[in-house]
Amino acid sequence: MCGIVGVVGAENATEVLLSGLKKLEYRGYDSAGIYVNSKTGTPELIKRVGRIKNLEAAIPAGLAGTQGIGHTRWATNGVPSVANAHPHISNDGRFYLVHNGVLTNAKQLAADYLADVTLLSDTDTEVAVQLIAKFVRDGASVKEALRHVMQLVEGSYAFALADRDDVDTLYVAKNKSPLLIAKGDGFNAIASDALALLDRTHDFIELHDEELVVLTKDSIHIENLAGAVQERASYTVDVSEGDGDLGAYPFYMLKEIDEQPAVIRRLLSSYVDDQGQVQMPADLLKTLDGADRLYFVAAGTSYHASLAAAPMFEQLAGVPVSVHFASEFGYHMPLLSKKPMFIFLTQSGETADIRQVLVKVKTMHLPTLTITNVPTSTLAREADYALSLHAGPEIAVASTKAYTAQVATSALLAKALGMFKGTAAAKKLDIKHELSIVATAQQTLVDQKDMIHELVGKMLKTTRNAFYIGRGGDYYVALEAALKLKEISYIQAEGFAAGELKHGTIALIEEGTPVIALISDPVTAAHTRANAGETQARGANVLHIATADLAQPDDELVVPSVNGLLTPLALIVPGQLLAYYASLDRGYDVDRPRNLAKSVTVE
Ligand code: AGP
Repeated sequence: MCGIVGVVGAENATEVLLSGLKKLEYRGYDSAGIYVNSKTGTPELIKRVGRIKNLEAAIPAGLAGTQGIGHTRWATNGVPSVANAHPHISNDGRFYLVHNGVLTNAKQLAADYLADVTLLSDTDTEVAVQLIAKFVRDGASVKEALRHVMQLVEGSYAFALADRDDVDTLYVAKNKSPLLIAKGDGFNAIASDALALLDRTHDFIELHDEELVVLTKDSIHIENLAGAVQERASYTVDVSEGDGDLGAYPFYMLKEIDEQPAVIRRLLSSYVDDQGQVQMPADLLKTLDGADRLYFVAAGTSYHASLAAAPMFEQLAGVPVSVHFASEFGYHMPLLSKKPMFIFLTQSGETADIRQVLVKVKTMHLPTLTITNVPTSTLAREADYALSLHAGPEIAVASTKAYTAQVATSALLAKALGMFKGTAAAKKLDIKHELSIVATAQQTLVDQKDMIHELVGKMLKTTRNAFYIGRGGDYYVALEAALKLKEISYIQAEGFAAGELKHGTIALIEEGTPVIALISDPVTAAHTRANAGETQARGANVLHIATADLAQPDDELVVPSVNGLLTPLALIVPGQLLAYYASLDRGYDVDRPRNLAKSVTVE
């Protein structure tokens, strides 16, 4: 979702902004813009619809500047257009603003305060910059004008504001949307994600909600909304810039699919000691042990990973688990158990739907754990406990290795909790051995790319729709595999509980409809095969993906057998590759599917 980069004091602000915005491309966007100024130059505002390369092509040669703000926009208010792209400028030409988030009362504020101002865009952001200019015209300092806007607006924002008449300063404010301060040598900068500036510094400062920052090249002044100065130490982000490199791969998604066995091995070396014991923080295990029900609250792929995680905690630790969509849970909260604990699986750690749940349950003084790929993220910082996924930066919008890391980390935590509780099931499970088998199985599957690509040619190259079916854990994988297919190939794909087809959905099956049956559970394998057969009898083009222990001679794809609780980790790999090649064969941008954002920072 929207990406922000800003810098003050740099020798070449244009270069900082462009390289930073390129690093944020993965978040998803539909237009981009920069504003650059310096003591000796003239202020330049350039905005373009589409990719950053369009913006780059429009930048005058030699534009450097020492002060700049840049933005990639993912449309919320108003269509993608140059007028709606950021930075937005006040009518007097003095103030330039970039914004990530949604101001829900912008229309009302425009009616109340800006009746005499002609707005040139459909955005809430323009309202904010016009308000700042108005308050300055009315006599406020720039900082006070920004603070006044923070007091007036409702909703979420990360703001970066440049004043044409003061090239030595940037003004920054944050509420609910992510924004970090980066401390440089001779410059200071800001970004939505540390990744944008890792080639320039590893030294970052987090911001809390409703904080305002005045930034110069050698000073960082943070205040809260009441004006009290906030002292905050910086921290080091030690992800190397190279971790996000594409290398020889055509797309990040393929690279990230291939990295999955290595992610599992990294998790084992991070969480399992030389004696094969899973090491988790003792206070976390104690808190989990005190819970009578675990509530997993997540979104999208992370929701599907939560579904796969639930049986692990139930079977290994004997604790009941509920899994919920974050976007629903906060507003339609079920009756909670007496001692609930909340677990948030989230790749980015910035998902707004999850954060509103976290904020709510914190006010209820209930314990929380975030399991995330970004240890410095908002959700990691704000939960009582945080565990890292150790997956390395995931750049493709379609999540793959983060899913693997979420499911594997959940397995490690469930095992640790089971051992803490002393359950027989946990004692029996050699998790290091079983996850090592999974890593090998994943390697076998990623090595079968060509064969999986051929299956796409036979089944998915031109179809408009497709079904994944399965039961139990296979159903959860069906949901995730279908999500992968729809988000990057735009095939209308459904993950379906195999037994439910005959209760209505089988009406959609016609000659040639692709149905992919997932079969890994000995208890229900025969039933799922029968359900697949029912679709075949009505013309469906069925692909059977079965684990080796349950495979039949005609099955099109056989997945190595792994421990039953860990099967999603193996079974999902063909689903990821089928989606990848379906997208590739249709000529789409695999890593940056239309309409989607990697980090979903609005509700
Ligand atoms: C899946 O491929 C998507 N990237 C999406 O469903 C994602 O899992 C969801 O938006 C939640 O994001 P999070 O894991 O960063 O919280």
